[in-house]
Amino acid sequence: MKDIRFTCSYALTESALQSYKEETLSALRTLTEGTGAGNDFLGWLGLPKDIRSQVKTIQQTADRLRRDCDIIVCVGIGGSYLGAKAVIDALQPSFAWLEDRKPQIVYAGNNIGEDYLCELQDLLRNKNFGIICISKSGTTTEPALAFRLLKMQLEKQAGKEAARQRIVCITDARKGALRTLATQEGYDTFVIEDNIGGRFSVLSPVGLLPIACAGLDINALLDGAEKMMNCCTSATDFDNNPALLYAAARNHLYRQGKKIELLVNYHPKLHYVSEWWKQLYGESEGKENKGIFPASVDFTTDLHSMGQYVQEGERHLFETVISVAEPNRQLVVPDDEANLDGLNFLAGKRVDEVNKMAELGTRLAHMDGGVPNLLIELPKLNEYALGQLITFFEVGCGVSGYMLGINPFNQPGVEAYKKNMFALLHKPGYEEATAAIEQRIKGLK
Ligand code: PA5
Repeated sequence: MKDIRFTCSYALTESALQSYKEETLSALRTLTEGTGAGNDFLGWLGLPKDIRSQVKTIQQTADRLRRDCDIIVCVGIGGSYLGAKAVIDALQPSFAWLEDRKPQIVYAGNNIGEDYLCELQDLLRNKNFGIICISKSGTTTEPALAFRLLKMQLEKQAGKEAARQRIVCITDARKGALRTLATQEGYDTFVIEDNIGGRFSVLSPVGLLPIACAGLDINALLDGAEKMMNCCTSATDFDNNPALLYAAARNHLYRQGKKIELLVNYHPKLHYVSEWWKQLYGESEGKENKGIFPASVDFTTDLHSMGQYVQEGERHLFETVISVAEPNRQLVVPDDEANLDGLNFLAGKRVDEVNKMAELGTRLAHMDGGVPNLLIELPKLNEYALGQLITFFEVGCGVSGYMLGINPFNQPGVEAYKKNMFALLHKPGYEEATAAIEQRIKGLK
């Protein structure tokens, strides 16, 4: 199986790169030896191996849900759904009617949109559906609200006993409302270990169960992850350690004033890989008024919206391009005798060749325009390559975070909006905050 490759020679010189050798190696040691801030959240480093003992049970649960359900709703937000959606969207066919693909995987609890929830309820009406509810804390409002609505709908449609068979919860081993509820209702559960944070949990049951429910090969995903994890240890020298090279290059660019990293793909199926990556890096690095801002674009689509800015706007950007060497399908541009569209110069070429030339042309144009680019090459879009990519980004994130001097494994800033929201919604226990916020709002009028 071919491995993914990382290249940064288009973005910085060899001597600049080498000047980061000691710093990155030291950050990697801090990570792997568990001597840095947030060292109680390093369980993900062992996941590709440690989770193997649970794969059989995860697969059996997935097989049962696949047999019993036409639709499976994954309820969760942030790290509790993005990794699964990233892998599933990347590997499932982009278009399929419900009749053609059973079960269909849909998502809830990742927003509080009333229309979204009503439309989901419409979709699920009179359908055989199941629910995987994922929340590490077991107290997050968005998934809890969606789960309440969907659980009630399922019980009404299928009866309480059948609903019980089609609900699986993934949460803390002991704490949280979801754990209490799952125990009392007798649902099947999987545990998110204390030492694994949400955004680093895709290779735990959090990601593996939904991915297996989509019919994808979770063993191959873990094989890729394990291979990359072995490549990213201190045993691999700096020049051959992709996560170290990535951490070195992006920190170098950041220190040169490139404060925004654009993750670029040329395949729309990778859109949610970027969404997962943005959470991973945004929540890990954006602290203490520091951190590269993670943004993303889908090219060539966004070349017709964001391309102008990238080419000529403020020069605070660098790009990390995900390139896929060989698509899974082939399509050749046909010859057309009339040639009214003037496209016969492309006849006989693969659509992917057109895409690749757009990719190369864009990378060169952006470099000329002062946007350095880093390159990640995936041999193919499959479970193995995605397992490698996930691990590459996770280790790169831990190393980068320590180079930045922050704790990459907490997210204290996420609490601020929750406190205000609960105060505004009069949640018991927030009386003082409610009084303060109401006063503040009056002052604004
Ligand atoms: O990375 C994180 O820890 C967060 O993004 C969480 O995944 C997200 O807030 C959801 O939390 P929970 O799984 O506790 O509902």
